[in-house]
Amino acid sequence: MPEPSLVSADNTTVVMCYHCTATQPDLIEEMLWTVPGIVAIEHSVEQPGSMTIYADVTVEGVKPLATAIAGIEGLAITQCRAVEETDWANSWKQHWHITPLTPHLTIRPSWLEYTPNSPDEVVLTLDPGAAFGTGTHETTSLMAKQMDALRQQGTLNYPQINVLDVGTGSGILAIIAGLFGSRQVTGQDIDPKVMHVAHANALANAQGHIHWTDTPLGELCHTQYDLVLANILAPVIIDLLPDLALRLLPGGTLLTSGIILSAAPNVKAEAVQVGLKPVAMVMDGKWCLMQFEKPL
Ligand SMILES: C[S@@+](CC[C@H](N)C(=O)[O-])C[C@H]1O[C@@H](n2cnc3c(N)ncnc32)[C@H](O)[C@@H]1O
Repeated sequence: MPEPSLVSADNTTVVMCYHCTATQPDLIEEMLWTVPGIVAIEHSVEQPGSMTIYADVTVEGVKPLATAIAGIEGLAITQCRAVEETDWANSWKQHWHITPLTPHLTIRPSWLEYTPNSPDEVVLTLDPGAAFGTGTHETTSLMAKQMDALRQQGTLNYPQINVLDVGTGSGILAIIAGLFGSRQVTGQDIDPKVMHVAHANALANAQGHIHWTDTPLGELCHTQYDLVLANILAPVIIDLLPDLALRLLPGGTLLTSGIILSAAPNVKAEAVQVGLKPVAMVMDGKWCLMQFEKPL
């Protein structure tokens, strides 16, 4: 078990760091995302054949994670330890750069300077700390790109819509919605630790009006939204789909990501079950985004 001092302030999660010799790091990360209790995973490859995995996992999930890692063929652990969240939050900063997501949308780490290429370019300044959401992960970039594509096509007129971001993490998607001019934005996450991170990021982007809440989706007041965003893992999305559908206005759009390709049919079936219409699917590597609409 990890040392108690390294467990998060609310005693719910711990960040485990594994140094390993490994082939196929992307495949290994994909396998680990399916372990129950995983909140976030990042990996880095220092040199071919070796990788470091940072896994933010519930305290109950530490053992299943160790078992899953031990069972992966071709992976040998050279060192395993629990690390302070702040160490994790800082360790990858050196690898994170200015991230252009679309020609109109760029993510700027708060400690780097950046001059936009045009007056129309939206630049989001971000310091995610230990929260998930930098824009570099495929699941986040798929969401941001689709949000921008719907804006460019005129399918979504942000100044006229209200937006709910479920599983907001660093607040990145909620803040993008705010920067696109949304009438009203709410960011929600079950992890109370991310609330101050998301709020600080909103302030850094002059989006102090965004409302943040750690109330579970099912207990939120019954406001309905034109656009609901949910970048969480497929099993969680499937559980949340009845509530996600309830939160949508008739004619509203749901964007879901964090879906490994093999789980897409299950997400689609559950969405249809709760009355949503599949509209689009966008893939990036092993991940996909699914777009649904609530019929009028
Ligand atoms: C993959 S991160 C996404 C962060 C950010 N929205 C992005 O797109 O990069 C998923 C987030 O969902 C949160 N989460 C997990 N289960 C949830 C649930 N049942 N309801 C709301 N949030 C949840 C986690 O705490 C985490 O911050």
